[in-house]
Amino acid sequence: MIRITVDGEPVQGRDGQTIAGVLVGAGRTAWRTSQTGDRGVFCGIGVCHDCLVTVNGVEGVRACRREAADGDRVEREVRA
Ligand code: FES
Repeated sequence: MIRITVDGEPVQGRDGQTIAGVLVGAGRTAWRTSQTGDRGVFCGIGVCHDCLVTVNGVEGVRACRREAADGDRVEREVRA
């Protein structure tokens, strides 16, 4: 098991899961706000960029492509 934080809240996942996998497994369906509303995972293969999050201070990380690591700090992105 791994533990990450999402906007400061602890969330557990499994080794090998992507950040999107951890978030969906925790019951979250949206974690980014864009001009068109709340977004989460859409394509799941790194193409659409709907799933962008900030990870350990790095903005614009595709949650569907980034493997979650124990201790990751994930933050929601809001872009108007
Ligand atoms: S869900 Fe499309 S890039 Fe991540």
